[in-house]
Amino acid sequence: MARNQTMTSQPFRILALESSCDDTAAAIVEGGRKVRASVRRSQTALHAAFGGVIPEAAARAHIGAVNEVLAEALENAGCTLEDIDAFAATLGPGLIGSLLVGANTAKTLSFLTSKPFIGVHHLAGHVASNYLDSTLEPPFLCLLVSGGHTQLIAVEDWARMRLMGQTLDDAVGEAYDKVARAMGLPYPGGPEIDRLAATGDSKVYPLPTARTEGAYDFSFSGLKTATLRTFEKALHCSSSRDDEATTLQQIQTNLSAAFQHTVVETLLVKTVRCANNLGYQQIAIAGGVSANRGLRERFQRWAAEKPENSLYLPQMSYCTDNAAMIAAAAYFNPLTHDWGEEVFSRNQGLDKV
Ligand code: KG4
Ligand code: ZN
Repeated sequence: MARNQTMTSQPFRILALESSCDDTAAAIVEGGRKVRASVRRSQTALHAAFGGVIPEAAARAHIGAVNEVLAEALENAGCTLEDIDAFAATLGPGLIGSLLVGANTAKTLSFLTSKPFIGVHHLAGHVASNYLDSTLEPPFLCLLVSGGHTQLIAVEDWARMRLMGQTLDDAVGEAYDKVARAMGLPYPGGPEIDRLAATGDSKVYPLPTARTEGAYDFSFSGLKTATLRTFEKALHCSSSRDDEATTLQQIQTNLSAAFQHTVVETLLVKTVRCANNLGYQQIAIAGGVSANRGLRERFQRWAAEKPENSLYLPQMSYCTDNAAMIAAAAYFNPLTHDWGEEVFSRNQGLDKV
């Protein structure tokens, strides 16, 4: 049975807000797993012209959207504020102007209704996205791949996690976005490379795989640089030969496939190595990059060959930032914000194996 199971017959219902970056989201989740409503307003169109998120514009857009998503979530769930048992919001990490909108709104609701407020660490939220509409219980190994983080986290118990390894430089999502931008692909770059990779030939441009000292650590900045050099070289050669087979689009497509192949194989090898060494048979993937179709398919293919292992992937709508995952984390790990910095922080004094 899940931790925090309520004594009443009604499942514990949490209303959560997420506004750490460029999505304004509200969700209502029962018992940490059953999503009654999940609403999101994306700001992608607002930031696309700048090729990245503008913090000031993001915060202002959150102010405009927060009450709308809140009202829509309550309506979709058929609830009023009286039906909510606790309020939750992401407290960090994220853009401070953006975080303040969701956090202060949820805290105000908590104050007005005299119900608890639970502050959630954003990355604990991503890990918890695997609890939504699923039966997953610890222990499991979570590969967390987002715009800011690439980590292997041993989820030893509901509220006990251990950082096993992480990127030493760029996060996967960051590398995707930078490579896409340099190849002239539209923002946001991750999904665009994923789309092109599906039809590209990954063998046209061989790319290097980085070696790291730590068995479970990652490094993507060398791959990023190699991809960009290859792109410039291929572009240069194609223009001088004017060969149709090497048009810009073909270079982008094949190089996207090569980049994605290299990233996915690296993630798979280290994740499986870590799970095997820990003796964990359950692997979960979380974070925006878990929406990547190449990554999902490759891990699913691996899992199909290893029936003794179970693979958990969040539904597509719970991969990138959303509020349902924040509600799930609030339910299963109400104290994560206090220790989140210790577990999830990049390159700090980590309890590593
Ligand atoms: O988790 P998330 O929504 O925000 C952070 O907490 O960082 O992750 C955003 C990242 C971006 O770098 C975005 O390019 C990447 O996730 N992403 C993808 C895909 N969808 C989103 N990367 C690769 N393939 C995708 N399909
Ligand atoms: Zn995120």
